[in-house]
Amino acid sequence: MIDPFGRTVDYLRVSVTDRCDFRCVYCMAENMTFLPKRDLLTLEELDRLCSGFIDKGVKKLRLTGGEPLVRKNIMQLFRSLSRHLDSGALEELTLTTNGSQLARYASELVDCGVKRINVSIDTLDHEKFAKITRWGQLGKVMEGLEAARKAGLAIKINAVALKEVNEFEIDHMLRWAHGEGFDLTLIETMPLGEIDEDRTDQYLPLSLVRQRLEETYSLVDIPYKTGGPARYVEVKETGGRLGFITPLTHNFCESCNRVRITCTGTLYMCLGQDDAADLREPLRSSEGNELLYQAIDEAIGRKPKGHDFIIERRGEGPSVGRHMSMTGG
Ligand code: 5AD
Ligand code: SF4
Repeated sequence: MIDPFGRTVDYLRVSVTDRCDFRCVYCMAENMTFLPKRDLLTLEELDRLCSGFIDKGVKKLRLTGGEPLVRKNIMQLFRSLSRHLDSGALEELTLTTNGSQLARYASELVDCGVKRINVSIDTLDHEKFAKITRWGQLGKVMEGLEAARKAGLAIKINAVALKEVNEFEIDHMLRWAHGEGFDLTLIETMPLGEIDEDRTDQYLPLSLVRQRLEETYSLVDIPYKTGGPARYVEVKETGGRLGFITPLTHNFCESCNRVRITCTGTLYMCLGQDDAADLREPLRSSEGNELLYQAIDEAIGRKPKGHDFIIERRGEGPSVGRHMSMTGG
């Protein structure tokens, strides 16, 4: 699949549920209305959809949410998708998770061929963690991390940089993550969906974070790539890798290689644009995949050049109406 700007699309991110057992302040409102369960694609349909994309050239597949591990019987989907790893058609099957259920699933994930996972942790302070996630418990996530490590999963910690919240803790998180042998990636908050707070109060530019870290650490740019939008440095003092995802201060769209599907089978060609294509109808309307392939080709043919995020003042509304939990982080 090649888009109008010559970019090869070989990375698919699938949100398997819009639900989550946390309510992170930058991600969701506390009182969220989720999709009725009957609107969701079944696990079999999700498998068919992913397999269709793999036939069309997807090499890397990431399951996200919401929180993917709260979807009932989700391991059934991992298990069935792992056949594409065995055949060599798929190079990597990964997961983005908040870690709350990892203790239960880590070894099964490894069994299904998952080698690497991203775990979202924005602070190491238990009270702050409870505040940011509203419903989460850091202790549970730490147990999950331990189980994941024991199972042999490579772990990357994703932290959203939040002004005043974890702003002065990033140095500590860096030393912790690298001390544990985890990569750390910092993310700028993106204006996705209505939340209860003002995003301008949350936004912390990573250019500033990097500047501050450079007072203490030597950060050396490295060409390391995981297929996502992060740019990596090696931290000389710790020997670990630190990634920056900077949709606001540095647009990374020119190298975009990915598209996303929601749990209802809507294909979004860009996280930061509203244009979408429905794949549920072509998926359901025939047993064969011809209609599905057609719909995918047509959609890739109008993948936009990039997002135009700006962090809004209160009242102006987010750049994109839907939440990250719908299209997946
Ligand atoms: N901006 C940036 N990151 C976000 N995430 C969720 N919502 C947003 C947002 N509006 C992050 C989560 C997780 C990943 C899936 O996306 O913290 O790390
Ligand atoms: Fe859940 Fe992740 Fe959103 Fe937090 S950021 S509410 S863990 S989907």
